[in-house]
Amino acid sequence: MEEEQKAESIEKPEEKKVLVDDTKKDNTFNSNKEEKEPSDESKTIDELVAKDQQIISTDSRFKKPIIKIEGVNKSFKVGNEWVKILKDINLEIYPREFVVILGPSGCGKSTLLNTIIGLEKPSTGKVTVRGHDITNYTLDQLSQFRLKKYGVVYQKPDWIKSLSVIENVALPLAITDIPKKYRHNRAIDLLRKLKIDHRAYYAPSELSGGQQQRATIARALINNPWIIVSDEPTGNLDSESAAVVMDIFRGLNEDSKRTIIMVTHNIDYVHYATRTVYMRDGEILNKKINI
Ligand SMILES: Nc1ncnc2c1ncn2[C@@H]1O[C@H](COP(=O)(O)OP(=O)(O)OP(=O)(O)O)[C@@H](O)[C@H]1O
Ligand SMILES: [Mg+2]
Repeated sequence: MEEEQKAESIEKPEEKKVLVDDTKKDNTFNSNKEEKEPSDESKTIDELVAKDQQIISTDSRFKKPIIKIEGVNKSFKVGNEWVKILKDINLEIYPREFVVILGPSGCGKSTLLNTIIGLEKPSTGKVTVRGHDITNYTLDQLSQFRLKKYGVVYQKPDWIKSLSVIENVALPLAITDIPKKYRHNRAIDLLRKLKIDHRAYYAPSELSGGQQQRATIARALINNPWIIVSDEPTGNLDSESAAVVMDIFRGLNEDSKRTIIMVTHNIDYVHYATRTVYMRDGEILNKKINI
């Protein structure tokens, strides 16, 4: 409880400073009844996205980074030794960018991505997301933050096997006070967009790899996040399904104006990016913007 109050006191002044309208977005799924706009509960994803467009373009105009990584180092203890995996990473990611983080296996891409979403704590340095320094957040604050701000897509879907596809997709909303009917409406709306609604009531294991990944993307979007992070989303897919997934990401970036950060070791995906960040041995090699 104390932690929650602390989180509130950390967040509120900065929300106002960074972007006044941001409070509207956050209230979309805010469990605090007094602050919520009740009409949002029944909104479809299209309506929520349309509502966000103006806010996002305002953000772009000011060109404030949505994510700022400053002097991040990360070491892991292996046996008796500390091994430095991330070495003085400095990176700014701006709204509406599609950033591909490219590098060979073992160079630290997943570690960097996990640091960005707060799954790994930097050994030193700071990660700021939309003006919030998440480095010292508690685990509880971090999981709330991740749920609200990020849509996360991994290489392998992590389904709850006893639930249907639609139940899995709607699951992140289960902790909100949005009624089940609206949670499921929103889930089916997304599944339809991703052309997988005909499998909504199947078990996840009854779907092909490509279909599962499309459903995973639907789940990642259920909270209408502004930032979508993905670690090798096409790693388990055939080339046709991989192209479908990449086109979905492109649409989310170009049409829905979402910020995308994608990790891969596949150079073929560089052309989807508005910027490619190259990593080697825990370091960023350059930060050239290709647009
Ligand atoms: N929890 C951990 N404990 C010890 N070492 C770790 C841990 N997590 C990652 N590492 C090491 O950090 C290095 C970078 O790992 P990371 O998973 O970030 O690489 P990657 O670039 O994502 O590789 P890949 O493309 O194969 O997924 C590896 O040598 C890995 O063994
Ligand atoms: Mg990895």
